[in-house]
Amino acid sequence: MNYKSINKLKKIIYKKSFKKIFILTGKNSYYKSGASKILPSILLNKIHKFYFKKSYYPEIKELKYIYLQIKKFNPDLVIALGGGSVIDYSKIVNVLKFSFDVDKKIKKNTYKIIEKSFNLLVIPTTAGSGAEVTSNAVIYINKIKYSIEHKSLKPDKFILSPELIIRASKKIKASAGFDAISQSIESLLSLKSTAKSVFYAKKSLKLSFKNYLNFVNNPSLKNTFQMALAANFSGKAISISKTTAPHALSYPFTAFYNISHGHAVSLTLNDFLKFNFENMAYSKSKFNLQKRFKIIQNLAGTRSILELILYIEKIKKKSALETNFKKLGIDIYKDYGKILSGINPLRLKNNPIKIKTKDLTKILLSKK
Ligand SMILES: [Fe+2]
Repeated sequence: MNYKSINKLKKIIYKKSFKKIFILTGKNSYYKSGASKILPSILLNKIHKFYFKKSYYPEIKELKYIYLQIKKFNPDLVIALGGGSVIDYSKIVNVLKFSFDVDKKIKKNTYKIIEKSFNLLVIPTTAGSGAEVTSNAVIYINKIKYSIEHKSLKPDKFILSPELIIRASKKIKASAGFDAISQSIESLLSLKSTAKSVFYAKKSLKLSFKNYLNFVNNPSLKNTFQMALAANFSGKAISISKTTAPHALSYPFTAFYNISHGHAVSLTLNDFLKFNFENMAYSKSKFNLQKRFKIIQNLAGTRSILELILYIEKIKKKSALETNFKKLGIDIYKDYGKILSGINPLRLKNNPIKIKTKDLTKILLSKK
């Protein structure tokens, strides 16, 4: 953390004179990022408690445990320091009404949102999902992904500190960075996109296309900060437009095979770009889909859809995002039914072209 970020953190903690601070983090995030060398001295005069998350992705059992821990401690400030899972846990715990049948309510989309229980400061250690600015959060119940959505999920404050992001492994950088790219591309094609979301998605892609590969393979504080900004803008874009098919299809890959989120999204981004482009005549969008494709092509420095697809394939390869399903432990002929059943239908609906099960099956079975 540089001088500026540390000062910002101190200001947030001391200005409002918070008394009890709960730190929700992951062991990797906390120690590897270098936060463990900074936070203790800042928290010295504060009553505080740490919780290190265990699950690989946000799931209901751990969410309930965190809720009980926070309720018992009753903090006035929660610092969520970590990647997507840590941030999502903190956002949900802050505003979701917990009851004995909360699982059922989440599944049926009848959950209740209550007033914020604490101030929430988010410090991402990945770049990233942009979860520090989005008004939704993901939770898995029995390996199926659900989304909690409400404007009050948006954290009160966030600090983007490249020093805490730069030490993440190459694998995490590649996956999280690709998430930012895909979110912005999906946002530009989403039926729910608006002039404002297009503005943020363009800003995001401009930064990520320029910095992603260097951030993964040759990280500097500068390109790390640029990617953190790209992720932040992509979060702002999808807060408005939501994501589309590659995200919808990504959740079962994470739940069944522990493939990290951005990597899971990367598995089908190109397939859906191709699908949407080829079926453009059937677009349900009010905007000109061809123009949106042009925007993406131009930002990537490519001149056609084919070049764009090759460009994305190239950055996946150069950032070592595995594309081979067998190597990822997926037997697609055996498992495609299971994968199809785990798809998020809400996200699929935002796709500009209607996607039928037979289209999804075709895409999945084309994988090796
Ligand atoms: Fe994402």
